[in-house]
Amino acid sequence: MAIETEKPSSVRLSKVAISKTHGEDSPYFAGWKAYDENPYDEVHNQSGVIQMGLAENQVSFDLLEKYSEEHHEASSWGKGAPGFRENALFQDYHGLKSFRQAMANFMEQIRGGKVEFDPDRIVLTAGATAANELLTFILADPGDALLVPTPYYPGFDRDLRWRTGVKIVPIHCNSSNNFQITPQALEAAYQSAESMDLKVRGILITNPSNPLGSTIQSSILNDILDFAVHKNIHLVSDEIYSGSTFSPSEFVSIAEILRNRNYKEAERVHIVYSLSKDLGLPGFRVGTIYSYNDDVVTTARRMSSFTLISSQTQHLLACMLSNHEFTQNYIKTNRERLNKRYDMIIQGLKKAGIECLKGNAGLFCWMNLSPLLNEPTRQGELELWNIILNQVKLNISPGSSCHCSEPGWFRVCFANMSEQTLRVALQRIHKFMEQRKVCSVNR
Ligand SMILES: Cc1ncc(COP(=O)(O)O)c(C=O)c1O
Repeated sequence: MAIETEKPSSVRLSKVAISKTHGEDSPYFAGWKAYDENPYDEVHNQSGVIQMGLAENQVSFDLLEKYSEEHHEASSWGKGAPGFRENALFQDYHGLKSFRQAMANFMEQIRGGKVEFDPDRIVLTAGATAANELLTFILADPGDALLVPTPYYPGFDRDLRWRTGVKIVPIHCNSSNNFQITPQALEAAYQSAESMDLKVRGILITNPSNPLGSTIQSSILNDILDFAVHKNIHLVSDEIYSGSTFSPSEFVSIAEILRNRNYKEAERVHIVYSLSKDLGLPGFRVGTIYSYNDDVVTTARRMSSFTLISSQTQHLLACMLSNHEFTQNYIKTNRERLNKRYDMIIQGLKKAGIECLKGNAGLFCWMNLSPLLNEPTRQGELELWNIILNQVKLNISPGSSCHCSEPGWFRVCFANMSEQTLRVALQRIHKFMEQRKVCSVNR
């Protein structure tokens, strides 16, 4: 239980501790709070808030549970269990060799076997959150900048900026070309950093993108890599949703681009991955950095001491991911189920008169409510968000919390609930849109 104190402490804390750069005052987190205070439940609280602001994947739990039931050797523990004592003592920051090998194979499998990953280049971290922060610590000094295309995952404000002291300079993308990254937008962001006297150290992209729910085309990846080479900066590719692409052929990893270039300039490229999304295990805290740069690998491994994965978790997942039959079936089934959910939400929104950006990946869609804004500003967007949260009782994430410069876009998650709850959410949106129509006719 927390100890209650009467007034705020007068004892000084560090600049990092009191800094606001963690970004937790954004509507993205405020919406979660509203959900926590009144969560929807199919039986016990049918008027509660439905959480559509959380990019969780709950559609394939049954497959994980079935594996666990059938493979006690993966999770067995205690006296007599094979390897228990070794695991209980294991804390080497290299991680279990068997797990790094299994992760490398899994990452290859997700990419259709088109690229190879060397297990000795895999650095284990407690999730992609830690991986992104750790890489930022290695690539940039406090006060330096990373370029990040907008809209971006709101957690990056915390992960890339808060403790590192690094600045994020947005690469502004907009709906005129379906939010694609262009060489002009890259150059404009670079110039904007220079005009603020910031040294740009790298670009961080998310592919498939969160929040757009779409993959980045290979021609654009080539442009981005060319840009990084031209400016002599790093390129980090957060590929945390790579296994959640419904049309796997449309996903091109930066690893493939490098392979096609015979790994020329590879030492500036680093891939971030985690099992939080594709396997739906964010609570297990399992992430990796895969770097083509030896010094980055060595330093990241040293730094990973602060953010290791428990050996028990590594052992369980090493067993599971080494089982080719399981992974093959899991990846295929999970993709099919996500695709089905995606179709369900897109069709449901369409019936309500709402359009979304065409997506092919991820656990969310990027919904366009700009025609509903009272005024085309951030303020107008937040007013609408407030109505949807408090009257329609849906927590969705406003584009401005993802630093989208164009008002009226919202990220809507669809894989963190049952199909039945998704149906209820769609009914609520439909009713809301009908009421809006009636109001505008009567005006
Ligand atoms: C693009 C992106 N990177 C990183 C993370 C954090 O993932 P993890 O749970 O592995 O720390 C998320 C989670 O939503 C994300 O969307």
